Amino acid sequence: MKDTIVEIQMSDIVLDDNIYPRENIDHKRVLVFVENLRDGFKFDPIQIQLCPNPDLSEKKALYRILDGAHRWSAYKKTGRTVIPAIVKTLNEIDPLLYAAKLAIGPKQLTETETRHTARRAFKNNSQLRSSEIGKAIGRSRQAVDTYIADLRAASLLALDLKIFCLNRLGIPQDRIAKRLSLPRRTLLDHLTKMPGLAKPLYSDLAKGFTISQVAKKHGWPEPMVWSLALNEKSDQARFKSLQWGIRTWDLWNFMECDKRFGDEWPGRIPAQLVAHILYFFSEQNDLALDPMAGGGVCADTCLAMGRRCWSLDMDDRPDTRPEIEPYHWDLESKWDDLPIMNSKDKPDLIICDPPYFDKKAREYSEQSISGLSRKDYLKFLEKFFLFLKKISKKKTRLAFINSDWRDFQNCPAGKEDPHQAILIVDYHEILKKTGWQLSHIIQAPMSSERFNAGVVAAMQKKKILGVVSRYVMILK
Ligand SMILES: C[S@@+](CC[C@H](N)C(=O)[O-])C[C@H]1O[C@@H](n2cnc3c(N)ncnc32)[C@H](O)[C@@H]1O
Repeated sequence: MKDTIVEIQMSDIVLDDNIYPRENIDHKRVLVFVENLRDGFKFDPIQIQLCPNPDLSEKKALYRILDGAHRWSAYKKTGRTVIPAIVKTLNEIDPLLYAAKLAIGPKQLTETETRHTARRAFKNNSQLRSSEIGKAIGRSRQAVDTYIADLRAASLLALDLKIFCLNRLGIPQDRIAKRLSLPRRTLLDHLTKMPGLAKPLYSDLAKGFTISQVAKKHGWPEPMVWSLALNEKSDQARFKSLQWGIRTWDLWNFMECDKRFGDEWPGRIPAQLVAHILYFFSEQNDLALDPMAGGGVCADTCLAMGRRCWSLDMDDRPDTRPEIEPYHWDLESKWDDLPIMNSKDKPDLIICDPPYFDKKAREYSEQSISGLSRKDYLKFLEKFFLFLKKISKKKTRLAFINSDWRDFQNCPAGKEDPHQAILIVDYHEILKKTGWQLSHIIQAPMSSERFNAGVVAAMQKKKILGVVSRYVMILK
């Protein structure tokens, strides 16, 4: 189809560095073009495309330049307000490579520009083949291979690490392939490489390097190195190596979260708490399910404790947390599209750490259940617990983590409205109603250190009774 030439406002167009293949504008060339324009010379139209995120771009422009940066600069210098342009739709074509191909028409890219363009294109899309990049920038496939050798190795390692992690957590191959957008065949090729991948790490561990040294040296996340180092060890030996003392009684108090496991996350629970649930209520290689996984503490701890783990959360972070499969528990839906729905493998243990009612509601995404009304929050839990039964087997245990919710923040204890509160006994009512039988209540208090002295003094003055209680309820 023939391209249509349209007149576009100069102010609607930007030169976007992200897709400009040259280091700089050649100002001498622009001045020649300015002279040409003044002499009445007619230039070919420039090529532009719609900005992917006009609102996010600095100048809020509608279009960005694919070809014609020098002509556009000359138009600007002569004070013209409109420029003839062709608006391109590139679909699958990489805009940087498209721009590079057009740029080398009038003047080859310099060696630095070629190298830089190849690297930027590969960073944007690691699926691009060297030959495709080479064709666009006017270099051979071999030349491109050398430009991007380090990036390709890092990207392959990153992919291998993701596969290693998901496979280690027992996520079935069809879900790994879907999550990483890989054909099954490619995934199988990668999986055969897995034993070799870990070899150099085992060798360094055997030489006595620490876990964090090995993790840093090889670019692996620490929990995965723990999973190698503790392989075949007993649970007790794992606790010892991790320097977590086993709590013998039903009071699991941990001063703070172990930073080695899980991300900074609103409502993050300590890995030690997860490890205790795993220790007392599951066996090695058992399957744990974390339906609201947040910062991934549960999956990380399962790696260290030798359990499989499937995680879900509405917050999708495919690059940093590929093991957390995206899923939104929508109160209005039937949840029959759940990724794990048709699996024959049922969880041995469900670790359920939902956002508490109302608390931190502003820190989670808008659709989080923490933003629901009290009535809907409880309605959600009832539906959720029933559903968890449906995806469980007879021996599945549920570990439900929650605390009393009382509107204590601005209210003296004696004046709190009990009808507004949700106490741990209320959760138990719902659990009982949905067929879950309680076997243990363990106290796992939150740290009160998050309240500073000023806040504490004000609370005491107003007779406010705060909440640091937190419980793990174990049910069957
Ligand atoms: C308390 S956080 C979990 C924290 C996690 N255990 C950790 O230590 O990192 C609760 C999580 O539930 C997720 N969530 C809330 N409402 C959800 C919904 N309707 N569907 C899916 N995830 C939801 C939030 O995104 C949040 O990450």
